[in-house]
Amino acid sequence: MSRIVVTEKLAPRGLEMMAAAGHEVDEQLNLSPEQLLKVVPGAHAIIVRSATQITAEVLDAGADLVAVGRAGIGLDNIDVAAATRRGVMVVNAPESNILSAAEHAFALLLAQARNIPQAHCALVAGRWERVKWEGVELHGKTLGVIGLGRIGALVVQRSLSFGMRPCAYDPYISPERAQKMGVELLPLEELMAVADFVTIHLPKTPETTGLIGKDLLGKAKPGIRIVNAARGGIVDEDALAEAIRSGRVAGAALDVFATEPCTTSPLFELPSVVVTPHLGASTHEAQDKAGEQIAEQIIMALRGDFVPFAVNVAATGVSEGVRPFLDLAENLGRIAASISETVPKRLEISYSGALAGEDTRILTLAVLKGVFAGGEGPVSYVNAPKLAEERGLEIVESLSATTYEYVSLLTIRANNHAVAGTVTGPRATPRLVMLDDHAVEVPPAPHMIVVRNDDRPGVVGSVGTVLGNAGVSISNMALGQTTGIEGELSGTALMVLSFDRPVPDGVLTALRGTPGILDVYAVTAT
Ligand code: NAD
Ligand code: MLT
Repeated sequence: MSRIVVTEKLAPRGLEMMAAAGHEVDEQLNLSPEQLLKVVPGAHAIIVRSATQITAEVLDAGADLVAVGRAGIGLDNIDVAAATRRGVMVVNAPESNILSAAEHAFALLLAQARNIPQAHCALVAGRWERVKWEGVELHGKTLGVIGLGRIGALVVQRSLSFGMRPCAYDPYISPERAQKMGVELLPLEELMAVADFVTIHLPKTPETTGLIGKDLLGKAKPGIRIVNAARGGIVDEDALAEAIRSGRVAGAALDVFATEPCTTSPLFELPSVVVTPHLGASTHEAQDKAGEQIAEQIIMALRGDFVPFAVNVAATGVSEGVRPFLDLAENLGRIAASISETVPKRLEISYSGALAGEDTRILTLAVLKGVFAGGEGPVSYVNAPKLAEERGLEIVESLSATTYEYVSLLTIRANNHAVAGTVTGPRATPRLVMLDDHAVEVPPAPHMIVVRNDDRPGVVGSVGTVLGNAGVSISNMALGQTTGIEGELSGTALMVLSFDRPVPDGVLTALRGTPGILDVYAVTAT
């Protein structure tokens, strides 16, 4: 059981999922930074939204942390680099609230264009101000979208149905992709010079902080209106207030502020400014999705599984061609480490056949995860490369389009040992198919022993007798053919035996002392 600290309101379903997975869910809302430092020791995961700052100091205090979960998108409140250095996985819920955020940006756009909050306040205060709150139409207007990612793209779709003409600034998007969305890509200054409305959908990074400042606002089309439902600080609030006062900018709508909570601002005094208190993701639907998605990811992270939305794993995405090999790769790493007498200094990983045409970086991480699984402390896709570096392990990867018998083959060589595996059948079942150049055919199991013996009659029986006398039942067994997978002859035979529980040390010693047995290696899941 792991302890998961939750520092901000999370949808009940997410909390239930983590409790049902057997974890202790420790809800600690509204903590001060000092209180947070006292709560993280002993926690294995922490889940936050945007208000909790996960600094290097917090990560240091949480020496047992395996994962930090962000129930939402923006990661600017998490020191991801510090987490990576400490081997802590950072995971978010990147698609949970994009619709809500896009709808909120559009709501702000309309509210600003038609002065809806201002007119509402006047009317409920008893003032019927029809002339004062005349607005502008969106139809036919140019919308500049800054940041054409998931949310930016949804805003573009909505703008098209309003008859707007969208253009975008995003140096990381190809012109072809933008064209498919019906958007023209423009340099930032040009976008600001032609847009009637601008909406910002960027992450907050050192590069984007203050991006929309005095200089750019000074060059903007007179009468431009600005919406920011991304992150406070991307727009310089003082410069925006000044540009509105001077008349260069006709108005703005903001959901986010440089410092939050924000209850006073020069912008609040301006009648053409519409504001909301960071409500972009505040819908039932988005919160349910964020809660469930982050709970799912944290449960996977604590199990040591591959976590699809981990942002600091040194490989991106997993294709359908690679996914079935993840377990196999980890198991082969575990077996390779178990049969190597000493910690290997060099690990050769070969991807052959169809696998050679895939992005195999995540499989290399899975192999490393398996190699280090028997050591101390949790091993994840994030800290496995760091462990390899610390231990001075040289990793040599190779790709080859050809294989002898299999569509794909993953082979690991370390300390003069070799293991290979593939996946077979309609369910892509992992199979260990070669061990030290003996062909075998056995699914990897949590507890296995590998026995190398003289190739003569009676030895298999002796192994059975030792195990039987000790009351150890075998759940699966494969005998290695004496002809190696690549055709050469070998003077020894090999057995791979699987068990439901670890084989006691005494039984391993007895096997090692049995005539005809040359080596016995135990491969046990941690
Ligand atoms: P995304 O990663 O899908 O898209 C971000 C886009 O910005 C990408 O296309 C990227 O290429 C572009 N980009 C990055 N750096 C850039 C730069 N320097 N100049 C120009 N373009 C740059 O992210 P998303 O899901 O669309 O979310 C965007 C942001 O919205 C999040 O980072 C988050 O901070 C914010 N957000 C706010 C709320 C809210 O409640 N107000 C809700 C959800 C998300
Ligand atoms: C986000 O980045 O997902 C948003 O700011 C929403 C939030 O966490 O409240």
